[in-house]
Amino acid sequence: MNHLIAPSVLAADFGNLNRDIDMVNSSEADWFHIDIMDGVFVPNISFGFPVLDAIAKIAQKPLDVHLMIVDPDRYLEQFKNAGAASITVHYEACTHLHRTIQAIKNLGCIAGVALNPHTPVNVLDDIIEDLDLVLIMSVNPGFGAQKFIPNTYRKVRALKAMAAGRNDNLYIEIDGGVNLGNSSALINAGANVLVAGNFVFTAENPGHVISQLKLPQGHTLQ
Ligand code: DX5
Ligand code: ZN
Repeated sequence: MNHLIAPSVLAADFGNLNRDIDMVNSSEADWFHIDIMDGVFVPNISFGFPVLDAIAKIAQKPLDVHLMIVDPDRYLEQFKNAGAASITVHYEACTHLHRTIQAIKNLGCIAGVALNPHTPVNVLDDIIEDLDLVLIMSVNPGFGAQKFIPNTYRKVRALKAMAAGRNDNLYIEIDGGVNLGNSSALINAGANVLVAGNFVFTAENPGHVISQLKLPQGHTLQ
């Protein structure tokens, strides 16, 4: 499949949210990436349902919800009702991951698991067939604008190999520090969804940056 681009709304200007959502709507981006942080699982708090509702009202592309929260089971239905197309929970925050994944699927959402940089992909070996999406964190979760961790390439290759023949439609999503300097190598390694926050929203022409990230690897847009 062609890779997807998911701009992270965390890096948008919340004083001009309408403008930034509209930019993504009219761009070549595929999904809106929505970062939910609870100040417990990660040392930061992002935003909750009032802001998500405002985003959902004007967003014209699927909402890819990344839950950086403890005990996510408590809120799955509320996120579904708020408009989530996909819900990704952290491996490190789920005691009963299999049950949580089934609950997300039963809501009709794409079910994803995120791995922190120190968590090896092989912990998913006994659940890989059940997953729609694996999100590999390429920074420590909690903040935008951090430096990409190069070990991510190795993890993407390992996940791709693990999924081969067992889950060939798996979304392999990379989140953190993605830019035009690493996007091609990530796609080559097997990634098919790239999240980009600051690289998109701090650009002079964010729509153009999204188009560049969207190009098949090896081509450059003038
Ligand atoms: C980090 C978040 C990311 C973040 C990415 O915890 O999960 O989605 O917004 O932002 P950049 O692309 O700026 O690293
Ligand atoms: Zn994220």
